[in-house]
Amino acid sequence: MVVTIDLPSAEATRALGAALAGVLRAGDLLILTGDLGAGKTTFTQGLAGALGVRGHVSSPTFIVAREHAPGVRADGTRGPGLVHVDAYRLGGLGELDALDLDASLDDSVTVVEWGAGLAEALTEDRLEIELVRPRGGVVDMDDPEAGTRRATVRGVGPRWEGVDLGALLRSA
Ligand SMILES: Nc1ncnc2c1ncn2[C@@H]1O[C@H](COP(=O)(O)OP(=O)(O)OP(=O)(O)O)[C@@H](O)[C@H]1O
Ligand SMILES: [Mg+2]
Repeated sequence: MVVTIDLPSAEATRALGAALAGVLRAGDLLILTGDLGAGKTTFTQGLAGALGVRGHVSSPTFIVAREHAPGVRADGTRGPGLVHVDAYRLGGLGELDALDLDASLDDSVTVVEWGAGLAEALTEDRLEIELVRPRGGVVDMDDPEAGTRRATVRGVGPRWEGVDLGALLRSA
């Protein structure tokens, strides 16, 4: 199942992440793709906020993976922890393996920015989220917010069979 959503603002990108928080559970893997500045970290901030995890989600320059301890979701339920990975600087599968994400995968939601072509090896099931700028990929550094985005969300594997992502995300 594939769902496409327009994201006219950074707030909409955050809301998309937040909308997924209710359905996500420990063991889920999200692979984020999209150009530089497309909104991958912004999406992860919205998700983290709605999961209620500890700590601030940022765009790490030197840190490849950051673990956020579990907290309480907006609806009062205890949520899973979050492992946020930025694979941009990873050289390949060997370096991904070295992060030992397997160890935390079952206990947390794992989000991998720039994970396409790499992180699929971690699990059979995953959510693939692609963020694109329909206008083209060039980032205006004086105005990084410029340009609406479009998200495509695809569930892969048995975990996502029968999950109505369309209903979930359109209610965001
Ligand atoms: N839908 C949107 N509309 C407009 N601006 C947005 C949207 N989503 C995110 N932004 C803005 O785009 C900028 C870059 O976002 P962000 O850092 O999340 O991108 P990224 O994909 O993580 O980048 P990188 O490739 O460097 O990791 C931020 O200023 C953010 O507020
Ligand atoms: Mg980022």
